[in-house]
Amino acid sequence: MSKEIILEAIDIKKSFPISKENRLEVLKGINLKIYKGEIAVIVGKSGAGKSTLLHILGALDRPDSGTLLFEGNNLLEMNQKQLAKFRNEEIGFVFQFHHLLPEFTVLENVLIPNLISRKKDKDYALQLLREVGIEERANHKPSEISGGEAQRVAIARALINSPKIILADEPTGNLDTENANAIIDLIFKLREKFNHTFVIVTHNEDFARNCDRIIKISDGIIINSNK
Ligand SMILES: Nc1ncnc2c1ncn2[C@@H]1O[C@H](COP(=O)(O)OP(=O)(O)OP(=O)(O)O)[C@@H](O)[C@H]1O
Ligand SMILES: [Mg+2]
Repeated sequence: MSKEIILEAIDIKKSFPISKENRLEVLKGINLKIYKGEIAVIVGKSGAGKSTLLHILGALDRPDSGTLLFEGNNLLEMNQKQLAKFRNEEIGFVFQFHHLLPEFTVLENVLIPNLISRKKDKDYALQLLREVGIEERANHKPSEISGGEAQRVAIARALINSPKIILADEPTGNLDTENANAIIDLIFKLREKFNHTFVIVTHNEDFARNCDRIIKISDGIIINSNK
């Protein structure tokens, strides 16, 4: 793991309206540095703001205030077109529920981010499916594979445009221990091979213990970003 910063959040605040007069302050000033090649996990109680933070880090949502630097460029100053390009090319997102499109095959699902960038690299998609151990299911529909397999496909899809950073929201959340461990092993293998940077929200204690760094959110701030 290098000490080169890939993503930095400075004093990020985010609130949501909960009634006409009131807002719920979820993130109250998040300061966070993500280093190239690290596997960092975000932990914290349910409702602490983990998903909210991950969405902001991936430019899927905007904070109320703060600065978000990706390789030194402030994402919050980009226009919609620049942001769409950034999300498509630099970020891989793995959602808690895999969000595969049911009418497309496994292979087509992996290629979906390619449609936007107009690259369509089928060979690379198949290589990624081999990497995540499910190449032989390439022509199956999501309804024909298991939850653990679907999560592998979602990881392959997140990697298709060779993003610099992968953000994953509870990628093992709906899996049994065996399948969860397989996903964890896969993430470490991918980091070893491609030197990807991962930021992963998890409730899985084994995972948290084995990663490079634990970032804990409590009461809207980060209370500990070390092991
Ligand atoms: N769009 C929204 N509108 C209103 N409140 C929201 C919205 N999104 C999230 N919240 C609230 O913000 C708080 C943080 O939500 P978030 O989803 O980030 O929590 P979390 O840490 O990911 O929790 P979990 O572990 O249960 O997934 C919660 O109280 C949630 O109800
Ligand atoms: Mg969440």
